[in-house]
Amino acid sequence: MGNLDGKFALVTGAGRGIGAATAKKLSDAGARVLVNDLDADVAQATAADLPGAIAVAGDLSDLDVADQLVKTAVDTFGGLDIVVNNAGYIWHSAIHNMSDEQWDAMIDIHASAQFRVLRAYGRWLRTNAGKDAHVRKVVNVSSTMGIYGGATQLAYSAGKAAVVGITKTLAKEWGRYNVTVNAVAFGAIETRLTSPYEKEPNISIVKGQERKVGLSLDQIEGAKQASPLGRMGTVEDGANSIYLMCIPESDWITGEVLVASGGVRG
Ligand SMILES: NC(=O)c1ccc[n+]([C@@H]2O[C@H](COP(=O)([O-])OP(=O)(O)OC[C@H]3O[C@@H](n4cnc5c(N)ncnc54)[C@H](O)[C@@H]3O)[C@@H](O)[C@H]2O)c1
Repeated sequence: MGNLDGKFALVTGAGRGIGAATAKKLSDAGARVLVNDLDADVAQATAADLPGAIAVAGDLSDLDVADQLVKTAVDTFGGLDIVVNNAGYIWHSAIHNMSDEQWDAMIDIHASAQFRVLRAYGRWLRTNAGKDAHVRKVVNVSSTMGIYGGATQLAYSAGKAAVVGITKTLAKEWGRYNVTVNAVAFGAIETRLTSPYEKEPNISIVKGQERKVGLSLDQIEGAKQASPLGRMGTVEDGANSIYLMCIPESDWITGEVLVASGGVRG
């Protein structure tokens, strides 16, 4: 018996990193998962290892993708119990170098995309929730940058702070549907966004454009030392934190921001 047997979940940005580990964690606990990612190949690779999972590629910056994801989940599974809004990426620079495109891109993926997914889910909840007793779960991924701020991360921090407002507001709106809405604000987790480089930052391709990502070895050492636990988080640490907000034992917790940072504050 798994803790999430019979549950149906949607995880965005689940082709890599924290999202892929979350899809696996939820699946291992018994849920069937719709694995979304911008990149079809990694979405399919994640889903292929998970019983009953399906992969749906789609860029959440496209206005109709959120509706398609919720519709596909409901049509395929017959319902939707868990929504994890995880997709995101970084595009940092100091404010004097920040373009309007850069600002808009960060707000779009971290705030507007979550809004569109949740609006689509809310439209389904209005006619379908309340007919049964079980509690449904939303987990929105934020960041410690959205709570404490981070130099050179203005637009990212603003987008991740918006996640907190979305979470607290929908917790109030959706109590009537028996839905808990929480956020997890991560500190440094080992993914391609925080992977080490020695001279030049690593390159990742997001939305067809190259982005410099990664941390210098000094920054990684600093991140480790900032934590009382003396390390960065693993993707499994990240997935476990999200999982806590998805299981029945958290049914009385809503509107909260769980800081999962290995004890780093600020
Ligand atoms: N890694 C960290 O230290 C850290 C810290 C705090 C918060 N976060 C947040 O955690 C989430 C996951 O990040 P990660 O570190 O696992 O990164 P990652 O790059 O390993 O994985 C993110 C996934 O999201 C997908 N994605 C990006 N834009 C998308 C879009 N428009 N539509 C659909 N999918 C899209 C990417 O293709 C990628 O597979 C992000 O929201 C990130 O901001 C990460």
